[in-house]
Amino acid sequence: MSGGKVLVYEQHPVTRNHICSIMEFLEYEPVTVEGPEALNEHLGNPPDAIWMVLLGGAGANGSAVEVLRKIRSLDPHIPVVLVLDPKGGIKLTAELEAGVIDMVEMPLRARRVNSVLQKVQTFRENRHQNGSPRNLELFRNLVGSSKGIQRVRKMIEMVASSDANVLITGESGTGKEVVARHIHYHSARRNKPFVPVNCGAIPPDLLESELFGHEKGAFTGAITARQGRFEMADGGTLFLDEIGDMSLNMQVKLLRVLQERTFERVGSNKSITVNVRIIAATHVNLEKAIESGRFREDLFYRLNVFPIETPPLRDRVEDLPLLVNDLIERSAHEGHGSLRLTPTAMQSLGHYKWPGNVRELANLIERLSILYPNGVVDLHDLPEKYQATELVAKAATEVAAEAAAVAPGVADPGQFIRLPRGGIDLKEHLTSLEYNLILQALQESNWVVAHAAKRLMMGRTTLVEKMRKLGLQRDEEGAAGI
Ligand SMILES: Nc1ncnc2c1ncn2[C@@H]1O[C@H](COP(=O)(O)OP(=O)(O)OP(=O)(O)O)[C@@H](O)[C@H]1O
Ligand SMILES: [Mg+2]
Repeated sequence: MSGGKVLVYEQHPVTRNHICSIMEFLEYEPVTVEGPEALNEHLGNPPDAIWMVLLGGAGANGSAVEVLRKIRSLDPHIPVVLVLDPKGGIKLTAELEAGVIDMVEMPLRARRVNSVLQKVQTFRENRHQNGSPRNLELFRNLVGSSKGIQRVRKMIEMVASSDANVLITGESGTGKEVVARHIHYHSARRNKPFVPVNCGAIPPDLLESELFGHEKGAFTGAITARQGRFEMADGGTLFLDEIGDMSLNMQVKLLRVLQERTFERVGSNKSITVNVRIIAATHVNLEKAIESGRFREDLFYRLNVFPIETPPLRDRVEDLPLLVNDLIERSAHEGHGSLRLTPTAMQSLGHYKWPGNVRELANLIERLSILYPNGVVDLHDLPEKYQATELVAKAATEVAAEAAAVAPGVADPGQFIRLPRGGIDLKEHLTSLEYNLILQALQESNWVVAHAAKRLMMGRTTLVEKMRKLGLQRDEEGAAGI
């Protein structure tokens, strides 16, 4: 029993360090949190799953019971253990006592902590055997509210509790692995390993020993015996990614394991039986691969007991704002600055076809957050291929209209002109503004320069000089009536 992530909520730095070092000593991974806001980042988040919470002095940021309520609102079932400092001020209330699994006193003693951890483990196991209600919050990072994503969530919910094999199909970057992890997380196997294997990335001659393990001396280089991924995943889930790239030879071997549930390590004839749930994924169209003889039909039917298709991003552009926000948060979390997209920039992303789907979007957001840390990204700041032509054209017309809308007599024309994101040739802009205003004044004064000069609040000779420079003269009758 080791290795889980333990959220340590403790304001006092010395106590916090003490708790963390004890947890590390016991081979747990402490994750520290200092204020209630930061809880949002860690709880209710499947891939980042927190195993338990150690709740210490809540300090200036509210009482321990308030922090506990916040924890419960984010994850109603997470085991919480209270850390009591005899010197420090946690006020024990009935609500607090009822809401935690156990309490430990500072300074922590490894033996006492170990027995509490045992209790947490038992609590977690029982909770899953009883099939407690699954927390919908945990779906949070399968972001989206479109019909397509709702359907995927529904399928995950339907299939998670069974042991049925699942085949996830969908274009590259649509979230096939996210779906696989959710299925595992929402199954009774969640406390057992989720073992991914990328069948396309492992050379065919190594895949067999990777999946089934090998005995010492089974082949050149096999210095020691090694467990395969099937054994590692015992009790949990084996995720066979890019199954469409698996060689026909390996497909036969996999089919046998799926049928008989037993296999042998390479170089051994001892059969091993494991209890593994298989989730496979591919971006290849397997039906076509079957037609062309690259994929075995019998294996396809074995895997495809419960098919789930992840929709391409272009078919669910209504999810873009949610996804963009989620990815910005993630990127800020990784230390890049935060970021904001203007509505036009967001609209422009909705016109794009997204061949790389959510993965491409994630890369774009990361790139933008490096280019514009804590900045606002407008249409023109997007890399060119993400700028929708119709929106670029519209924006250009608006800039021109804005410039033209600056009427004479307006006290502060500057306040009506927004500096376009793409920048502006100021000199040229001012010259054209000057030209337009002088032309209007002249036309409205019937080209009587003295009158126009008055309207422009300048001397007559200055205006004549400007008209000469700008090449302004009355077309039909040659020179204006000076
Ligand atoms: N619905 C979603 N909500 C939030 N993030 C998502 C979602 N779908 C995908 N992502 C993110 O997009 C990236 C790609 O997802 P994933 O690796 O699951 O895609 P995939 O379909 O397995 O792609 P490939 O076929 O290229 O392996 C990941 O960073 C993942 O976190
Ligand atoms: Mg993948």
